[in-house]
Amino acid sequence: MKPINSIEELNSRIKRVLVTEDEIREAVKKAGKEIDKLYDGRPVLLVSILKGSFVFMADICRSVTVPCEIGFMCAKSYYEGTTSSGVVKITMDLDRDISGYHVVIIEDIIDTGRTLKDILRILGARNPLSLHVITLLDKPSRRLVDMEADMALFTIPDHFVIGYGLDCGEYYRNLPYIAEYSEE
Ligand code: IMP
Ligand code: MG
Repeated sequence: MKPINSIEELNSRIKRVLVTEDEIREAVKKAGKEIDKLYDGRPVLLVSILKGSFVFMADICRSVTVPCEIGFMCAKSYYEGTTSSGVVKITMDLDRDISGYHVVIIEDIIDTGRTLKDILRILGARNPLSLHVITLLDKPSRRLVDMEADMALFTIPDHFVIGYGLDCGEYYRNLPYIAEYSEE
């Protein structure tokens, strides 16, 4: 990413809105209902993969009515150029044993799928009662490994996107919508 030298430049790189605030709100409401139906009163542990999913997590946890606990995990994937290597390092782990829990991973985006695949391997080895994945965004055209979410709110084309938790160089996470990022 080229360095950003001014607020004007920062804003000029927001190319176009891909998903509006209203569309996100509606989709989150629907996802909450589906989670309620799926778990049918059984308690769940929602696990947010930081940092990208923090906004989505805040909304999704308020859209469910099943008893829910929340947890956070910070994972860094090592990059080879612009794609993740699939080698994930847990930089902040969950604060509890998940073996008695129905775990729902809350992710921002599945791109190559490598990060999530490794997280699923790590959490799966801890013997949760069940393990599901909900992702806000899915970029299936970029997939390098076999990895499908149980629920994806939006399927998007191969664009680098920002906003609603997703960053470019740590900026834009606070945008209330999802936009396409422009290098120019
Ligand atoms: P994967 O291992 O290639 O699936 O990478 C997933 C991670 O890369 C996501 O959790 C994001 O943090 C980041 N990422 C992938 N695509 C984008 C994007 O378009 N915008 C912002 N972050 C992205
Ligand atoms: Mg992420």
